[in-house]
Formats: sequence, C-alpha cells, structure tokens
Amino acid sequence: MGPSRSSEDSCWSSRSCFSFTARDVRKSLLRTMTTIILEKASGATTLAIPVKKVDQSKEILPDPILSEILKTGLVIVGGKGTGKSIAGKVITAEIIQKQPLPIQCKIIDTALNWRWQFEPILFQEITERTRFIYSGKEHILYDTEFIDEDELMKFITKIVVNDYWKQRKLKKELEGNLFNWMLYTLEETQSSMSRFALMRKGGRVMLKMISEGRNFNQLFIIIGQRLANMSTALVERCHGMLFGKMVGDNDLAKIRRKCGRDSGIDDEVKKLADFGEFIYWNGSSAYKFNCPEYNNETRPIEWVMKEEDKKIWEHFYGRHII
Ligand SMILES: Nc1ncnc2c1ncn2[C@@H]1O[C@H](COP(=O)(O)OP(=O)(O)O)[C@@H](O)[C@H]1O
Ligand SMILES: [Mg+2]
Repeated sequence: MGPSRSSEDSCWSSRSCFSFTARDVRKSLLRTMTTIILEKASGATTLAIPVKKVDQSKEILPDPILSEILKTGLVIVGGKGTGKSIAGKVITAEIIQKQPLPIQCKIIDTALNWRWQFEPILFQEITERTRFIYSGKEHILYDTEFIDEDELMKFITKIVVNDYWKQRKLKKELEGNLFNWMLYTLEETQSSMSRFALMRKGGRVMLKMISEGRNFNQLFIIIGQRLANMSTALVERCHGMLFGKMVGDNDLAKIRRKCGRDSGIDDEVKKLADFGEFIYWNGSSAYKFNCPEYNNETRPIEWVMKEEDKKIWEHFYGRHII
C-alpha cells in the first residue's frame, strides 16, 4: 500500500517517465509531493492506517472511546442487518447507564425497533395526529409513525430546534457555563438525512444544528444504511464514524473520501463480519469494535399526558403543538 498503490506512481519511479508529457510529469510530481506532505503531517511512514483493536477486556465501550463519541457525535453506517440498531442501542444504553455527563437522551425510531427492547425509559408514540410532544427532562424514545419523510424531518427538526433555543437561553443565563447535554439518537436516517433532504429548508436548519449544536451541548448519533446516499455535508461535519460491513463501490468510495484515499479503511470495512463487527474512525485513527448482542429484558414505558397538564402545556409549550 502507500504511494506505490497507483500505477502512475510506479511509472514515475521507473525511467519510463521520459515518455510522459510535461503535464503528466507535473501531475505526478504534485501527487508525490502531496504524499510526502501528508506522511510528514501524520508522522507515518506509510499512508495505510493500521486498525487497532478496542480493548474490550473490561467493558463493552471503554471510556476513552465513549468520551470521544460524546465530544464529536457519531454516524453509524453499514449494510442492512449489520447490527447498526443494536450498536446504537448498546452505545446509547451505555450513555444512559454510565451518565458520564448530565445528559438527556432523545431517541427517534421509525421502525419499531426500540419500543419493546431497550432501557426502561419513557416512550411516546408520535403520529401525524399527535398534538402534545413530551418535552420534559427525562430520557425519551419517540416512536414515530410517519410515512412522509418530510413530516419526519419536520418532527426531528422541531425537537432539536426547540432544545436549541432552551439551551441557548440557559447558556446566556449561566454566562457560558452550560453544564447539561442533549443526545439525539436518530434511526434509519438514510432518506431523512440524504443530500436532497438536507438541502431543503428544514434540512438546512438540521444541518446547522448538527454542525453547530456542540456549542449548545447538542450531540447526535445518526444511524443510516447507505453512506453513499447520506449527505456529504453531514458526513464531513461528523468526526466519529462507526462503519459496519459495506461492499458497494459508492459506499467504499465515500469511506476513502472520509478517511483518506490510501488509508486502507475501505478494504478493512469490506472484510468485516456480516454483523456485530465495526470499524470506529475518530478522524485520525481506526479501531475494530466488536459489538455484543443487546439482550435487555426491559422495555420503555409509555408516557401518557395527564388531562390537567394539558392546559399548562398549551400555555407554556405552545410551540410544541403540531
Ligand atoms: N452483535 C451481534 N451479535 C449477534 N447477533 C447480532 C449482533 N448484531 C446484530 N445481530 C443480528 O443481526 C440482526 C440485525 O441487527 P440490526 O441491529 O437490526 O441490524 P441493522 O440495524 O444494521 O439492520 C439482529 O436481529 C441480530 O439477530
Ligand atoms: Mg436497524
């Protein structure tokens, strides 16, 4: 691997380069120089990035990785059935149980995957007819039932933007010392977070939230199926990536774009097991992560709004009514 990977580069090192045009030589020279600069910058002797193993001898998700995820957010992406939802559950459950930060988790599931098997947090079923949305301080699973992707996007944006204003107000009151965090785990986002969806009005707001949310302690775990369909703008803004097995050319090309053309991560992703194996990429290093099965006997508990609360909610949380 490394610089000799491209056939043109090997021509450059052999004397056959005399048959190149001046433009070819300039291009090749530029590439070689870029390679050297990249190597120097990373301190590596080769461009291939070795995949280290996550030390899971003591715990599923060691603290250094958990705290990285809490700093940068995470995109979980892989083929169908590679265990993305399970990985999302394992990581979100770790955050709920360990509470490494004063954090509130909001999970948005569209595929009825979490409602009967997750931590005993609150859940609310959301349909196009739902008028009151839970906006208290507990962890919450929104079990959404929208056929229209635009409606789903509108809902997600509403939740996130509403928290954004609350967090912003609080940060002002606390003179910048915001201590509480919000985590949004978003399931099956391949269509709601596609390039096209994020270019629309609601989508642009969402992209802003994802890229600037950290200023207001808002973090995202975004789960999706096809990296190739996900918005590049979104993927570029998220440093933490968890790749499940992918074999499609377009997906692999996007991994090369994200991790570096000669990083070799694309080859490693191709070789992963069909489910439960992931490569975690933090922007500079890669780790192999074995995700266990999430076998929790518990399930979320339905949140039912009390009649007497409705008036207060209508008064205080007018913005919450869809
Ligand atoms: N770590 C794992 N260990 C054992 N089985 C797993 C694991 N991860 C996933 N599976 C199996 O694969 C199936 C699909 O997992 P799921 O998380 O729903 O995939 P995805 O969300 O990627 O489509 C699960 O029902 C389970 O049987
Ligand atoms: Mg899934």
